[in-house]
Amino acid sequence: MKVFETVIETQNYTKSHSVGFVPTMGALHEGHISLIRRAKEENEISMASIFVNPTQFNNPEDLARYPRTLEADLERLEKAGCDAVFVPSVREMYPAPAVLKMDFGRLEQILEGAFRPGHFNGVGLVVSKLFHMVRPQRAYFGQKDIQQCAVINRLVNDLSFGIELVFCETVREADGLAMSSRNVRLSPEKRRVAPFIYQSLLKGKALLQSGVSPAEVESTLAAAYAEHPDFRLEYYEVVAFSDLERIPAYDPAVKTVLVVAAHLDGVRLIDNLIL
Ligand code: PAF
Repeated sequence: MKVFETVIETQNYTKSHSVGFVPTMGALHEGHISLIRRAKEENEISMASIFVNPTQFNNPEDLARYPRTLEADLERLEKAGCDAVFVPSVREMYPAPAVLKMDFGRLEQILEGAFRPGHFNGVGLVVSKLFHMVRPQRAYFGQKDIQQCAVINRLVNDLSFGIELVFCETVREADGLAMSSRNVRLSPEKRRVAPFIYQSLLKGKALLQSGVSPAEVESTLAAAYAEHPDFRLEYYEVVAFSDLERIPAYDPAVKTVLVVAAHLDGVRLIDNLIL
């Protein structure tokens, strides 16, 4: 596997290949590896990037605590048969601080955007830069970050990147917990209660499908989180897949998503279930 630290080396390599690209912030898990496998299947060359992007962290402590496991990540990628990886420094990515601000309108005011001001500006910036640097034909993202998928879709359409986006299903642990780089920060004791998040989504789905209104589902599940001694809920909402806005009524014929964000053991976890 080729490892590049500079844009020049990366472009020298990618210019003569059709590339399937998996951007990551490292601390790789099976979810990332499944994206690499898909990129390998569908493209001449599979390429990952590992870059913990400072501009998308609104909380400096979260940035400092973000797991960094470069050696293990490179081993995992190599084992998965990834062809190349771009591992830029902060200086390579941001030779000067970016002043451009991206505004995704409503999409960045709701859900994650409401709790993480500036987050999607940072994601939009870094993903645009990575797309220009790597010049892939296709790019692969996990649907666990469903709002990020919507933001990147907007970005690629509004700025005519000409890159095909592939959004892939969330990969879960055997007990249902969505795979996330942040899971390694949970103590063994709190890791055991973490599947409560997925269970809360399944419960919401069952209630919706039995005719309970979205508002009632939201308040029932918010109450369940309030009663749980380990979680601090940020949001639990029933939203339309099309724009991630809350819906007044559930229609099984319309794609709907249950979305949740909660703190456990000082770790912020998100998950969703698409119906
Ligand atoms: O999902 C992530 O890991 C990051 O937000 C991304 C897309 C790599 C941008 O830094």
